[in-house]
Amino acid sequence: MDNVIDFINVHRDRYLEELKALLAIPSISALPEHAPDVRRCAEWCADEMRRVGLQNVRLVETPGNPVVYGDWLGAPGAPTMLFYGHYDVQPVDPVELWDSPPFEATVRDGELYARGAADDKGQVFMHLKAIEAFMKQNGRLPVNVKMILEGEEEVGSNNLDDFVRGHRQELKADVVVISDSPMFDRGVPSICYGLRGLAYFQIDLRGTKTDLHSGSFGGAVANPAYVLATMIAQMKDKGGRIRIPGFYDDVRELSDAERAEFRKLPFNETRYRKELGAPKLFGERGYTTLERVWGRPTLEVNGLLSGFTGDGAKTVIPAVAMAKISMRLVPDQHPDKIAQQFEAYVRRIAPKSVELTFTRMHGGKPWMTSFDNPFVRAAGRAIAKGFGKEPVFTREGGSIPVVSTFQEELGIPSVLFGVGLPDENAHAPNEKIDLGNFHNGIVASAIFYQELAGVAVHA
Ligand code: BES
Ligand code: ZN
Repeated sequence: MDNVIDFINVHRDRYLEELKALLAIPSISALPEHAPDVRRCAEWCADEMRRVGLQNVRLVETPGNPVVYGDWLGAPGAPTMLFYGHYDVQPVDPVELWDSPPFEATVRDGELYARGAADDKGQVFMHLKAIEAFMKQNGRLPVNVKMILEGEEEVGSNNLDDFVRGHRQELKADVVVISDSPMFDRGVPSICYGLRGLAYFQIDLRGTKTDLHSGSFGGAVANPAYVLATMIAQMKDKGGRIRIPGFYDDVRELSDAERAEFRKLPFNETRYRKELGAPKLFGERGYTTLERVWGRPTLEVNGLLSGFTGDGAKTVIPAVAMAKISMRLVPDQHPDKIAQQFEAYVRRIAPKSVELTFTRMHGGKPWMTSFDNPFVRAAGRAIAKGFGKEPVFTREGGSIPVVSTFQEELGIPSVLFGVGLPDENAHAPNEKIDLGNFHNGIVASAIFYQELAGVAVHA
């Protein structure tokens, strides 16, 4: 093992240069004009998998972006880990708020800034380098590895469930390993045992066939911007509780024991608030901030568009108004059921004076696992060695839709060991990864594979 860690320490600077090349590819899955870049990125990942010594590397086509697959199965009797990550990234807008170009990775104060640095290219690359170190030093890995990298995670993983169902046999493994989440805090490594699900919608309202003079017609017709605002106002009450009938029916309440565990975590609410630049925190009444973000569902307006928004004033009644609205879900809520309930509610509260178009976008199921299994314990030991500190156990508010699919379709647990940070600016300008965490993450990944080798599994 020491020779592998030595190799990782010696090659630290090279890793940074290689990661910069991966981060230079603008693989933005949400924007059709970047489709060639997304494919180029898939090919780059496939080439890299071959370079580090994985075998059977190929792009598996889906109706959307390809899945990159590679494996190394030369450790008979040892466990098989299925590594999952994504090579697509979020759009970069508003690009003028970046301090350095999003696709020219730049180091400042020990952090590497680029779109995808943390979410998820940097964290995927960490594992590729851990694999490389074993292959170069020992010519083999301590465990069997199957690796899949998808190109549609940031747009809802629409084709991945079918991919998993269609390749059940090839994907057979003992444990899924994912690094696509932040750790609890700087210097506080963590293992995440729960993610929220998601249900995403667009609401379009049309009042008239065209924009109207607000003097000539104000008073005669409904204003879709105003109607939309009143509809949104009916979605939550003042205490932050969602008013969609039946919405809370399947919510698994936080247990007293879990709430007590959350309270033990080193969470500084004042610092949290200040770092967000929020005058005051706000959330569902009766819950702490961590409980709200990790263990309670929410409804958020992700975007609003209507009327005149340029400089100056324009007297107009807009013809249309649009809102993007999504809900984060917790166990045991189901995105399909929530979609039905939400659509019924929106149709009920929409007045007859506007024409409503309701569109369901992507979604994903929530996930939660027990962390009392030998794989999680192996990860805990590896993190303790790699970061010099025992990990804490956390849940997260974000979503990785495929995690519950792995549980349901392959019947195997996932270990989420992410090395991002809460201030990594994922999905925002100036996304970054801490280079110390990146390096320790490579070491911890390598130790994790070694620790996994000792976990007894049925062949
Ligand atoms: N890396 C995130 C998921 C994440 C975020 C996990 C924060 C833990 C904490 C992932 O890339 C992501 O952004 N997922 C999307 C999924 C959605 C499009 C279905 C999300 O959560 O918005
Ligand atoms: Zn993301």
